[in-house]
Amino acid sequence: MKRLLFLTPLVVLAVFAAAAWPDEALTPPTPVRILVPAVENAPPALLLADWAASPEATRGKKSYARWCIGCHGDEGLGDGKASDWMSPKPRNFQKGFFKFRTTPSGALPTSEDVLKVITRGLPGSAMPSFELVPEKERRDLAAWVLHLAGFGIARLEAEVLRDNEKLTRAQILAQHMPALKGAVAARFASAVQIVLPPEPAADEASLTRGRARYAKECSACHGTSGLGDGTSSTTLRDWQGAAILPRDFSTGKFRAGSTNADLYVRLKTGLMGTPMPSINGSDADLWDLVHAIRSFVTAPAEGASR
Ligand code: HEC
Ligand code: HEC
Repeated sequence: MKRLLFLTPLVVLAVFAAAAWPDEALTPPTPVRILVPAVENAPPALLLADWAASPEATRGKKSYARWCIGCHGDEGLGDGKASDWMSPKPRNFQKGFFKFRTTPSGALPTSEDVLKVITRGLPGSAMPSFELVPEKERRDLAAWVLHLAGFGIARLEAEVLRDNEKLTRAQILAQHMPALKGAVAARFASAVQIVLPPEPAADEASLTRGRARYAKECSACHGTSGLGDGTSSTTLRDWQGAAILPRDFSTGKFRAGSTNADLYVRLKTGLMGTPMPSINGSDADLWDLVHAIRSFVTAPAEGASR
């Protein structure tokens, strides 16, 4: 009890920090509560082995041990042996902060989203491309990644039961599994892909509007010429407190695809867990911004087909 009391200020701080985050893109997905390790040494509320995996995910687990564990860690917490000095860090799949999704801010990614990242890698980060791994195996890997994400949600819910209702793991397993499964299934069901509206012409008028909005809302981070050198660029932090730089648009290399459609989706969804917000506005407003970003690219169009 003493221990819990001692840690209360940390919980309060975490809640406060969450409230002080500047925009919805940074707000954790609803059921993923920020639980500071107030109960770090408490008995586990749920183990990964308790969470039944589909045949696909079970196969994916084996490939994961071969290809991914060194960076993403045994249970996908982003804490593999090689992760120490990486920036940005390998993703913690149990946390539920996925950056490159076609689903709304706060939602889980679709399996196609995860597959795309595994296939292409994330240029500009340590995440390699696994293009040479057969597609079936990549799909199994995606299933395992999403299994870990689902487990992360269930585990947090189980920890709430353990801490608030003083339930043991055995009691949770006996009484609460259907509810936990339901909560996770609902999260997956709500991860509905956004619709990509048709792209209007990238004419002068669109570019002018896009540049005007860019100057107001983006340049403090991305810089007046899109070089990633805005006045606040050196002060930004991700959800783990690690320094993170805004993208330099001049290279034309974006992390998760460089087509105009990819850029539209990035703006619409934001990059969860980073200061890059999801951008509000009409379809036309967002396309204007995409055209503005495109106008900052000075490198040859080599990456554009990716
Ligand atoms: C050499 C280290 C390394 C290896 C090996 C690696 N990753 Fe990653 N991975 C990263 C890093 C670093 C990031 C975060 C990059 C970022 O935030 O831009 C990442 C991010 C991801 C993401 C997050 C996508 C998102 O939307 O946020 C997925 C999914 C992923 N990796 C899956 C895998 C899978 C599956 C494997 C094995 C087949 C794998 N990774 C192997 C380093 C690695
Ligand atoms: C508070 C700072 C901040 C603001 C404001 C901001 N961004 Fe970003 N943006 C970032 C950061 C940081 C990243 C890189 C995140 C990462 O690497 O995970 C980023 C990344 C991006 C990316 C790269 C996506 C990819 O796949 O590589 C695009 C495109 C982008 N921002 C466009 C915009 C536009 C357009 C606006 C204004 C409407 C804007 N940003 C406003 C901080 C910001």
